[in-house]
Amino acid sequence: MASAAEELVVEIGSLAACDPSSIVSLEELGKLEDTLLGKRSRLSEIKQALGSLPPEERKSVGKALNEARMSLSDILAARRCVLEDEEVRRVLSSERMDLTEVLGTPQVGHLNLVSQTRDQLEDVFAGMGFSVAEGPEAETDWFNFEALNIPPDHPARSMWDTLFLDVPGTLMRTHTSPVQIHLMVEQGPPIYAVMPGRTYRRETPDARHLATFHQIEGLVVDRSITFADLAGTIEEFTTAFFGSDIHSRLRPSYFPFTEPSAEFEITCAICGGAGCRTCSHTGWIELGGCGMVDPAVFDAVGIDPEEWSGFAFGFGLDRCAQMRHSIADMRVLISNDIRFLRQF
Ligand code: PHE
Repeated sequence: MASAAEELVVEIGSLAACDPSSIVSLEELGKLEDTLLGKRSRLSEIKQALGSLPPEERKSVGKALNEARMSLSDILAARRCVLEDEEVRRVLSSERMDLTEVLGTPQVGHLNLVSQTRDQLEDVFAGMGFSVAEGPEAETDWFNFEALNIPPDHPARSMWDTLFLDVPGTLMRTHTSPVQIHLMVEQGPPIYAVMPGRTYRRETPDARHLATFHQIEGLVVDRSITFADLAGTIEEFTTAFFGSDIHSRLRPSYFPFTEPSAEFEITCAICGGAGCRTCSHTGWIELGGCGMVDPAVFDAVGIDPEEWSGFAFGFGLDRCAQMRHSIADMRVLISNDIRFLRQF
């Protein structure tokens, strides 16, 4: 028959056989630790009772107790490690600061709608064989007016409300037409060029006008250029830029530097030509002016009008953007309102 000590050793062995893998929380694990190793645990009871055992039996029971406590603490500590690790992960992931969310996708700026429109127009004209040129925004009276057949004090000057500079004889260009003069003087024919740029007029901004705005000028000078080339170029550009439903028409007009001159209009993009408030129920929107280069201009720049002929056109870039995107009020283009700008 087994002695009391032997029975205790067997009991201790069974108490030490513990598999805590089903414990999933640190709280549960704490309770189990208390049950197995705490002051009121069976192992502690046995330890306290050790003194009442005969000395020769104390040793084997004591050894078993010790081994059991050590093995149990190892097993429980290992489980604690796993659960603590899981807890840290859980807290980390629940408290994680999502910096990408704060920053969002990196905010990349983009060109203003007018610059985008300029680039697209340049592309359309480049596709038609035109080169792109630029000129100064501060001009002399001669480039902006005189060479364009607008003598000093001529009533035609009232067509452009001009911002003059303090330096006599200089002004902010009122149109891109002076770049025509630069090209004819500096380069000479043949010329196939478009000239986009910023222009200035002493004007109170409203829904369709800005004091600082943009135009794109076109100039072709070659042998035997006719009005039909001008009309064809404008129609070609109109459908390439606005789409095949939008067409152009020319109406007789007057500009001192072209003869004959025309205004060119395009199908109103807002109503598709049916007539609406924006186009005053005509179905057409005026985009710019054009005509055959006046011989007086050729004379001013030293090109022989008997040998060369040409056409020119000029129209508002901002107006183009306005038409293409149905923008009711042009002033938003320069308001720097990020909510508006972001749409394009
Ligand atoms: N420069 C003219 C304007 O600003 C437009 C134009 C350009 C007309 C070229 C004819 C030829 O009103």
